[in-house]
Amino acid sequence: MVTSINPLSKTFDISDSEKAELLQIIHNRYEFDFTGYSEASLKRRINRFADLKNMNNFFELKNGLLNNESLFFDFVQEVTVNVTEMFRDPSFYKAVKEKIFPYLETHPYFKIWHAGCSSGEEPYSMAIMLKENNLLDNARIYATDLNQNVLSQAREAIYPARYFQEYSQNYINAGGKNSLADYYVTNSGMVKLDQQLSRNMVFSSHNLVVDRSFNEFHLIVCRNVLIYFKQPLQEKVFQLFYDSLCMFGYLALGSKETLQFSKLFDRFEVVDKKEKIYRKIA
Ligand SMILES: C[S@@+](CC[C@H](N)C(=O)[O-])C[C@H]1O[C@@H](n2cnc3c(N)ncnc32)[C@H](O)[C@@H]1O
Repeated sequence: MVTSINPLSKTFDISDSEKAELLQIIHNRYEFDFTGYSEASLKRRINRFADLKNMNNFFELKNGLLNNESLFFDFVQEVTVNVTEMFRDPSFYKAVKEKIFPYLETHPYFKIWHAGCSSGEEPYSMAIMLKENNLLDNARIYATDLNQNVLSQAREAIYPARYFQEYSQNYINAGGKNSLADYYVTNSGMVKLDQQLSRNMVFSSHNLVVDRSFNEFHLIVCRNVLIYFKQPLQEKVFQLFYDSLCMFGYLALGSKETLQFSKLFDRFEVVDKKEKIYRKIA
């Protein structure tokens, strides 16, 4: 949801040194490390947060975050971008179906990790695709994010109905075989997704910056997350994904991110250049 800010209410802009101090304080107090996030976007979002909370100076911001845990969780919500949608970039799902499902079909049981799943639209889209290809019963889907608020929404699987016209079009463009409406009920302007879709799904908190590998996967999907990270942090996360993939497992980044500049690039083959789908081969 986009919240508008009245430009007249603008109070102050954080300086580079204040930003560095704030990130250090947050790291020490909450063990959340934002120092590897892209500078400009992070600064813009911190300023926006201070405006939304009507803070007048850096001191208020610093002390508020240090002493008020619930304010800190609002901060996490604001500085991490949570925008998502069902069947986002439909061509991605087509490519997954054509190029990865044949591999998954060879396993009686397989594991998928959606890293940075936001409010769940992405793993639910995957579950629908798997179901339509008779693969859902063989799947275990782990959907993780660092933000507890979006994870709660993901577990509930309740979304505003107004988005579903666009999602239905995405679903058709992604090669959906039925109608998206087969997978939800609508009530009072909200949509509740079929609970059968989450039967083999686990939602849990995982911070890509500090948490370790927690399983071995046949497919890892991480889209629209690494664009907010600077290169060294991206490299760290690629290592985590490499360590978490089984041999010949797939890494699906989506069109906006690339593995091309990573030192691990040679350990993968490019399966789909446009959709940035890679396979671990060494
Ligand atoms: C723009 S959303 C992408 C959602 C979905 N993957 C998609 O493409 O539609 C980015 C998500 O990454 C999450 N995120 C940001 N930093 C993270 C981190 N360090 N660890 C795990 N998730 C993170 C955010 O909370 C947010 O939900």
